[in-house]
Amino acid sequence: MRVLTLHFMVALLMTAAVEPCVNAHADSPTDKAQQIEQLLARMTLEEKAGQLTQLSVQRHPTGPVVENGGEDVIRNPGVGSLIGAYGVQDTRRLQRVAVEESRLHIPLLFTFDVIHGFRTIFPVPLAEAAAWDPDLAQRTARAAAIEASASGVHWTYAPMVDIARDPRWGRVVEGAGEDPFLASALAVARVRGFHGEGPPDVSTLLSTAKHFVGYGAAEGGRDYNTSDLSERTLLETYLPPFRAAVQAGVDAVMPGFNELDGVPMHANGPLLKDKLREQWGFHGIVVSDFTGVRELMQHGIAATPTEAVKLAFGATVDIDMVSGLYAQELPAMVRNGQLPQRALDAAVRRVLEAKQRLGLFDDPYRYSDAAREKASLLTPRTRALAREAAEKSMVLLKNEEALLPLHKGLHKILVVGALADDRLSTLGSWPGDGRPEESISVLQGIKGAVSPATQVVYVPGASPEDADLSGIDQAQQAAADADVVIAVLGERADMSGEARSRSSLGLPGAQDALLAQLVETGKPLVVILMNGRPLAISVMAEQVPAILESWFLGSEMGNAVADVLFGDVNPSGKLPITFPRSVGQIPIYYAHKNTGRPPKQAERYTSKYLDSAWTPLYPFGHGLSYTSFAYDPPRLSATRLTAEDTLKVEVTVHNTGPREGEEIVQLYLRDNVASVTRPVRALRGFTRVKLMPGEACTLNFLLDKNDFAFLDHYFLRRVEPGTFSVFVGGSSATDNQASFEVTNLARVEGLGSAIPRTLRTIANKTDE
Ligand code: BGC
Repeated sequence: MRVLTLHFMVALLMTAAVEPCVNAHADSPTDKAQQIEQLLARMTLEEKAGQLTQLSVQRHPTGPVVENGGEDVIRNPGVGSLIGAYGVQDTRRLQRVAVEESRLHIPLLFTFDVIHGFRTIFPVPLAEAAAWDPDLAQRTARAAAIEASASGVHWTYAPMVDIARDPRWGRVVEGAGEDPFLASALAVARVRGFHGEGPPDVSTLLSTAKHFVGYGAAEGGRDYNTSDLSERTLLETYLPPFRAAVQAGVDAVMPGFNELDGVPMHANGPLLKDKLREQWGFHGIVVSDFTGVRELMQHGIAATPTEAVKLAFGATVDIDMVSGLYAQELPAMVRNGQLPQRALDAAVRRVLEAKQRLGLFDDPYRYSDAAREKASLLTPRTRALAREAAEKSMVLLKNEEALLPLHKGLHKILVVGALADDRLSTLGSWPGDGRPEESISVLQGIKGAVSPATQVVYVPGASPEDADLSGIDQAQQAAADADVVIAVLGERADMSGEARSRSSLGLPGAQDALLAQLVETGKPLVVILMNGRPLAISVMAEQVPAILESWFLGSEMGNAVADVLFGDVNPSGKLPITFPRSVGQIPIYYAHKNTGRPPKQAERYTSKYLDSAWTPLYPFGHGLSYTSFAYDPPRLSATRLTAEDTLKVEVTVHNTGPREGEEIVQLYLRDNVASVTRPVRALRGFTRVKLMPGEACTLNFLLDKNDFAFLDHYFLRRVEPGTFSVFVGGSSATDNQASFEVTNLARVEGLGSAIPRTLRTIANKTDE
């Protein structure tokens, strides 16, 4: 959210006559509809435009300050929603202005970016995606909703469900990574988590799927840049998580800042109106992204504010977040016939209905309850959940000669890197109301975990911020008598996120130089990565024996990292996004096409690079454990079947190592020959399984025509006869496979379900 200075018309600021309340209790659906219609009938055009206007609130030491006309505009003509106000005291005060001092007493909606926690901060969404655990994502979203709603917040701008295949784009950190299947499962989980039991439960948070659509495909990874996607890529890759969120009942959708096919998303009628609302049946609110309505002028498709509003409103963008143009333009546009009154009413109705659903007409203060706020924020339970989520989100990228886990009783541990002691960075991008002083740094976590006899020495050495090399010698010297060196390296939290694109993906600042010196010491070296995007760390991957990807893990980061470092917890996360060897490989993702000349080292005219391997540094789905897992070949219930049949894929996984551990079992499918080219493999199922040493477990995955189908030349969903390969293993690079044949052609009618089914049933755990 940024500060913006806009000019609201002074004419709107005249004090209005206050009318008696119409907020009679409405119980039956008819009563409820009537309540809204009666209210609509009494509203002036200015009041209607006000309900479609969202103002931002800046937090000042003296209290919240409403921008762009301030509280006067809430009084008259009224404002529908405020972004950035939270806390019982502040929200009560602002709500009072709306319901006591505006003519029709319509309550405000308070909105906020509750992205990965409110006061208790959970791992950033990309990290949490590495847990491959929809149940966990639902629980953290629920916990965030309980906290935020207790603090007066009604509506969050999450989940962010943008597919991101370019790690230069800073907003990679906010989503679930590169894959639509995993992203859809997590989108559904988060929507359900924010929703909870639903109204009238007072911990229901309205959710928003954003940024519709293709925002993550910004050219060059440069934020806000143009996206250019084929219709197929849009339909197969970028839209599915939105559709899954809609099917899960998401309350709102936010268009992206990007354009697609020459049409900025805030004016994209074909996608917002035809696809989202008409085809998918979405009845909720479309809320602009910040000044997205005004930006239509910068895009060059509107010459005037009136034209911008006409385009955005025509595309059914209901709420104008902070640009102020709806308030300024809509009343006159209706008066002079440029906009039908019923279109305005339809948008206002959607906003009023949301307020009604949350029970705000009955009690506008029901989300602002001091006792609930006090009892709900940062409790031992939410901390425990933050620790669990953080533990499951870490990915062990490399662990040569079982350097990890470390002994707690080592004589001396040297911790290096400014990030080790950076509590603010543990919170990641969009930290909500999270506070660094309530968060555990990696250094604190390590100190708290070791035996009293262990000496933990900390030398910052170098920072991601600047090229100052002066601290490196000290780090090197301190390593001399250390048993092990733990280097915490990567990005500061504000180096990924909105408007945080990077053209390089190496370690910023002087960290490379620090690492080189540490490698030289010859000491056992562990790197803990803190970052919000894949980094290109080929040299590190060659030289450092143990690398733990810890992203930004939230309030309990340090404790969780220590749990994994010292073996109290066995790491189990898997990458939700490919790690490239270099920026030059981007875009690189596992579900690519085969091409007519798939890469072969020995053949010159094949698809590869002169100066680099074509494979990624770490593939999608990769992640190690302190134990090891082995897979039997997949067993299929049939090798020939019709498109109407369900195929059962059975696989046995063994824990072949020395420790208890959790494995994320992944199933990928390939349609070997089809009338349009298909990806070399696409994720169609996954599950977590916990196994004791020597234990095995047989899992069943079910596949059917929804999995076999694809969009043909005419964009109709069809299953075509032919062979398929199914791969099951611990990463997208697995070669554990079996084949089957589908014998007939079939149309898959309708839109099908975008919600990934729960494909798995766990059967038959055996000791071996
Ligand atoms: C971001 C959105 C966010 C909004 C409100 C925008 O700049 O793109 O994701 O929800 O601000 O804070």
